[in-house]
Amino acid sequence: MAGFIINGGKTLTGRVIIDGAKNSALKLMAASILTGGRTRISNVPIIEDVLTMAEMLQGLGVKVRADQKEKILEIDSSNINNPEASYELVRKMRASILVAGPLLARFGQVKVAIPGGCNIGSRQIDLHLKGFESMGAIYSIEHGYINCHISRSKGGGRLKGAVIDLDFPSRGATENIMMAAVLADGRTIINNAAMEPEIDDLVKFLISMGADISGQGTASLTIEGVDCLSGTDYSVMPDSIEAGTYIAAAGMCGSDVIIENARHENLEIFFLKLKEIGVDIDVVDENTVKVSSPEKRGRATNVSTLPYPGFPTDLQPIITVLLSTAKGVSIVTENVFENRFMYIDELNRMGANIKIDGHHTVIDGVEKLSGAPVRAFDLRAGAAVVLAGLIAEGVTEVSDIFHIQRGYSDIAGKLKGLGADIRVVK
Ligand code: EPZ
Repeated sequence: MAGFIINGGKTLTGRVIIDGAKNSALKLMAASILTGGRTRISNVPIIEDVLTMAEMLQGLGVKVRADQKEKILEIDSSNINNPEASYELVRKMRASILVAGPLLARFGQVKVAIPGGCNIGSRQIDLHLKGFESMGAIYSIEHGYINCHISRSKGGGRLKGAVIDLDFPSRGATENIMMAAVLADGRTIINNAAMEPEIDDLVKFLISMGADISGQGTASLTIEGVDCLSGTDYSVMPDSIEAGTYIAAAGMCGSDVIIENARHENLEIFFLKLKEIGVDIDVVDENTVKVSSPEKRGRATNVSTLPYPGFPTDLQPIITVLLSTAKGVSIVTENVFENRFMYIDELNRMGANIKIDGHHTVIDGVEKLSGAPVRAFDLRAGAAVVLAGLIAEGVTEVSDIFHIQRGYSDIAGKLKGLGADIRVVK
């Protein structure tokens, strides 16, 4: 098992380049199933989850060629022979559920393992299934699998366009239903759709394959079904959450750190909160920011996570580390997931003073943190304890870093490049 050893207290300087977005790349890979042609995806982050999705596609009969150095994937979906997403792969990565919509649209049937919950919450998929049902699919659940096919009585061959009102602007449901609807017969309207920048990236990708979609960037997406889609050549958008992680690191202990490929339009509310804390952020151009930590201790502030354009839940653990040494009391409210505070006990072991109260945390800022052995409980919780190690006095040992490697490409190398004292140990 690998871990990180971090010697805290170093000032970060220099430049870091942000990779392609995990939460877009995975969906573009799933969407490539919609065509029998070849798809070339560039600026792909080289992370565990991308490799798991590639394995998932190969299990379906898709040919995937990865050029890790050039960060390019070539995907050939002409010979899919088994529309089944196995439990072994789905349990490794929940996003595997996103092959369901494309397989249903292209083959009229799919068998996919139920993802189940994870450390941050129950992670339901009821809205995905309700959407498929509205378009004429029927499903049953047996032995941990969802068997879904287009009902013969509802015109058998293709899904039918429908008006779908989502109870919650779920990203996964918006993406899965949209990918099912692009090959459906007629018009589908998704109301209360998710609006994250990664949704836009998927819309642009589908349009480049020949899909007919309008309303991107709004809460109502209209999809006119087409008969078929062709392969495409597309570059993944930069990862806003990875960018937010390095911006926060620089906001804690950085001096004029340059973060490239950080599209600030996707991080407006995050920037607002960092400025309230006292972090110095300069927008150099639309893709580059320069960040320095405050002269003195930061100021406390309150944060509430919400679907986009609200404060991103994936940056909740990250900003909490910043607030853990700010002057005063902050309240952080998690509104998207039921159980996204598992890292709090780890921060308190490093000397933070944080209380959990239902879906709120009350953070009484302390002068400093001290190094300790801590665990990564999930992807963003892991990144949070790494950042805490950067500002803590002494040595921090982070274990279970496989969680972090799922979504961050070479985080130790990038932080070292900024002057952090961090190393990977077996
Ligand atoms: C995506 O998960 C991201 N994952 C998550 O990022 C992110 O935290 C989340 O969106 C919210 O922004 C990927 O894109 C791979 P949702 P997803 O469907 O699609 C409930 C990271 O750290 N819900 O918007 O699964 C659900 O239980 C990861 O990179 C239902 O109740 O999120 C949750 O509480 C973690 N029924 C909430 O909605 C449904 O059918 C948000 O889920 C679907 C969702």
